[in-house]
Amino acid sequence: MSGSVSGVASVNLGDLTEEIARIERDVESNSRAASDIDALRTLESKALGKEGALGALLVTIKSYPPQQRGPVGRALNEAKVRIQGVIDGRRKELRAAHDDAESQRAADFDPTLPGRLEPMGALHPVTAVQWEIERIFERLGFTVETGPELETEHNNFEALNIPSTHPARDMQDTFWIKNGMVLRTHTSPVQYRSMRKFGAPLRVIVPGRCFRYETIDASHENTFHQVEGLMIDHDISIPNLIAMAKTLLNEVMKREVEVRVRPGYFPFVEPGIEIDMNCEICGGAGCATCKQSGWIEILPAGMVHPNVLKAGGIDTAEFTGFAFGLGLTRLAMMKYGIRDIRVLNSGDLRPLVSPRRLSGPVIAPHSGDSASAHD
Ligand code: PHE
Repeated sequence: MSGSVSGVASVNLGDLTEEIARIERDVESNSRAASDIDALRTLESKALGKEGALGALLVTIKSYPPQQRGPVGRALNEAKVRIQGVIDGRRKELRAAHDDAESQRAADFDPTLPGRLEPMGALHPVTAVQWEIERIFERLGFTVETGPELETEHNNFEALNIPSTHPARDMQDTFWIKNGMVLRTHTSPVQYRSMRKFGAPLRVIVPGRCFRYETIDASHENTFHQVEGLMIDHDISIPNLIAMAKTLLNEVMKREVEVRVRPGYFPFVEPGIEIDMNCEICGGAGCATCKQSGWIEILPAGMVHPNVLKAGGIDTAEFTGFAFGLGLTRLAMMKYGIRDIRVLNSGDLRPLVSPRRLSGPVIAPHSGDSASAHD
């Protein structure tokens, strides 16, 4: 850029003026383009700094004949003042724009707005449904009982009319402890415990964790939840049971649930029934979850077997009762569209966290196409 003047003994001042004008034009357009103070500072040192464009011209003064050094120096100094003026002007503009933005931000800030909520997690789907069911049955005059997960063989089987030779034991193979106790296979032993504890009349529900020896897949877990229901009173019959089951399912699912009733066999009820609900996943059309039937086994139940009432110390001449063993895990899966039971016991809590945590968890069904809850 100093090529036209440096080292030339007799100088054409016109070339210098042109070079200065070019530098000034550059500075003007670049300073207009500078969007912040930092960019402007860089531009300033490129133009006016020792190594900058005008600085390079100043260094060449020595190469002019002595009589020209005065006018050249003056021209360069005047240019320097003009360039500084341009840069200072732009700096003022940028400062003003920055101050405006700041005060706008201050004006926009509303200290009365509520703070931003951080996601905090949600109730586990099984817990959410369990609590809901407890509220429903408390309204119907039931109390909530619990029992131990480690049970005696007697309470888990014999007291429920399942002697050790009974083939029904195969269906409920479980984990045996060396001292002869078992991880309970169902919540039904608490039927026996409650009858012993309270006598009749009696209304209890028993939410709890159960265990069976299972090969784990999308619809089978060795650890799952049930809610046992037991109502013993005068003149209790199957219609009371079906009415109770419908109330429960309608309220949990928040819709009119269609049910069907089939005969079912359990040694501790007579007659025994299976109450199925129409499949939430496919709306009853048939899918992998309901094994193409459109129905989900949700509530095995029946009239409490006289042998069980007797074991519980209840006078069978005076009282009858119904019992059910709701598949709580399965109902939670239906309610929240969970297709894979393994999500529920997994250590990865992310799929269980809901943005609507105050109204209960929402779990998006994932693409896996598999059956529903525990068989
Ligand atoms: N305990 C039974 C099971 O786990 C379910 C059941 C409970 C059936 C009460 C009838 C009455 O399979």
